Amino acid sequence: MTKKRRSQHWYGKLDKDGFIHRSWMKNQGFPDHAFDGRPIIGICNTWSELTPCNSGLRDLAEGVKRGVWEAGGFPVEFPVMSLGETQMKPTAMLFRNLLAMDVEESIRAYGIDGVVLLGGCDKTTPGQLMGAASVDLPSIVVSSGPMLNGKYRGQDIGSGTDVWKFSEAVRAGEMTLQDFMNAESGMSRSAGVCMTMGTASTMASLVEAMGMSLPTNAALPAVDARRMALAHLTGKRIVEMVDEDLKPSDILTKEAFENAILANAAVGGSTNAVVHLLALAGRVGVDLTLKDFEIGSEIPLLVNCMPSGKYLMEDFCYAGGVPVVLNELKPFLRPAKTVLNKDISAHFGGAECFNKDVIRPFDDPVKPAAGLRVLRGNLAPNGAIVKPSAATDALLETEAEAFVFENIEDLKANIDRDDLPVTPETILVLKGCGPKGYPGMPEVGNMPIPAKLVKEGVRDMIRISDARMSGTAFGTVILHVSPEAQAGGTLALVKTGDRIRVSASKGELDLLVDEKELDARRALWQPDDPHYTRGYAKLYIDHVLQADRGADLDFLVGKDTRLVTRESH
Ligand code: FES
Repeated sequence: MTKKRRSQHWYGKLDKDGFIHRSWMKNQGFPDHAFDGRPIIGICNTWSELTPCNSGLRDLAEGVKRGVWEAGGFPVEFPVMSLGETQMKPTAMLFRNLLAMDVEESIRAYGIDGVVLLGGCDKTTPGQLMGAASVDLPSIVVSSGPMLNGKYRGQDIGSGTDVWKFSEAVRAGEMTLQDFMNAESGMSRSAGVCMTMGTASTMASLVEAMGMSLPTNAALPAVDARRMALAHLTGKRIVEMVDEDLKPSDILTKEAFENAILANAAVGGSTNAVVHLLALAGRVGVDLTLKDFEIGSEIPLLVNCMPSGKYLMEDFCYAGGVPVVLNELKPFLRPAKTVLNKDISAHFGGAECFNKDVIRPFDDPVKPAAGLRVLRGNLAPNGAIVKPSAATDALLETEAEAFVFENIEDLKANIDRDDLPVTPETILVLKGCGPKGYPGMPEVGNMPIPAKLVKEGVRDMIRISDARMSGTAFGTVILHVSPEAQAGGTLALVKTGDRIRVSASKGELDLLVDEKELDARRALWQPDDPHYTRGYAKLYIDHVLQADRGADLDFLVGKDTRLVTRESH
């Protein structure tokens, strides 16, 4: 006997409850046969005009619906909270876990059998995956896709990456404010996510490498007609996945996460992938730690895209996209099942590279050994990370004096002072920007170079904080220091003039102050008053885990796959 579909616990009942569930749905014109036991597919949509990167998702939802109907399913689209990375204050990351809760509870509460996750902008992809993983119904991702390449004065310009460059050029007096403003419209000229290898395209690439989407999902531009076709095919596939009972827990294995870590190194992916993968692993019960990211450290950078390289996502797509990268990584990839119910090798078999400068072969990389490095030491007992592919090699092995900003306001008020006592060798330290401290662990870790040094031509310095940085950013930036300052980590005790030693090759990050002195400072230390005292933000501050645990909320780790049996009437 075949198992009763989950949706039939809502729509298959011949009683008052079944009447209520069906009748109200029928006010949208759905016929009787929509409720005849066919798979009901939720389309979980993070479309919003306040999340411009996801503005194409309403159209893509229609593509998914076509595929679901064609395969004999019944598609139902529902909205969840959307997180506009460039629009939300204090940071969209504060709300990633709230989106995950919204997704989880929506999937659990409604009578659906499988889910298509429509996301794109940085936090929407991990938030949706985390929520879906905690319910563990068959799930598949369709991403927004990147914007077309930015253009300004005949040149390609990249989301984020060129904002940071232009902004420094204005501060250095090398670009006029008018030119800076004129670049705005040329940078973002179509629907889609940042077209650099920022966090959005990184997460879409890792979703593809983990087998949670159909092949080519990451790189097809948002406005490329083939993305609509991909949405259609995804709609067909999710109906089959429901019949196969192929769930996230079947796909998101330790091996799949390892493949994501390897792919992240090869694409020059965002440091943000670390917190998102750790949080997602926590949801599916995979034992993933910062140490696991070290398997990527010897992988070379193959994808020549900003911020680590020179091209953009459109070029990456036309060169062959993620399947080509996976093909290059073939000897390292772990066997892992995907949404196709096949091994990951089925996603890249025969992939051909059409531009070997955009996707380099393994033996001629953009940069050797470019994966993220995990640093540990008394300044980060639970770890910190650095992205060598976006850093200055010479700065990755340094011992120098620190200049400390106690919080973001301190930094903003003083960074451009002409008398700031810093040199190009100074290590800039920023506190109070971790998960609890800011709160939400914003992307301020790539703090600006002090104006007086910018004018001297300095474009990179070592910067250390408990913050994150944008996936589009670059520089020798040490991030995610754990425990954070607000949680009483050693970072809270650093004073201007202290010496710090950084060794990326040895994986070390140490504050060269003796233990006795640190104990004395610790005895006097007090956390700052929290910035929020009510609502979700208070819940977040009280329950958020540190960066090395993915900054999920402690009570959201794990999953609950039980069917809700109690009715509303
Ligand atoms: Fe949305 Fe970059 S800001 S993807």
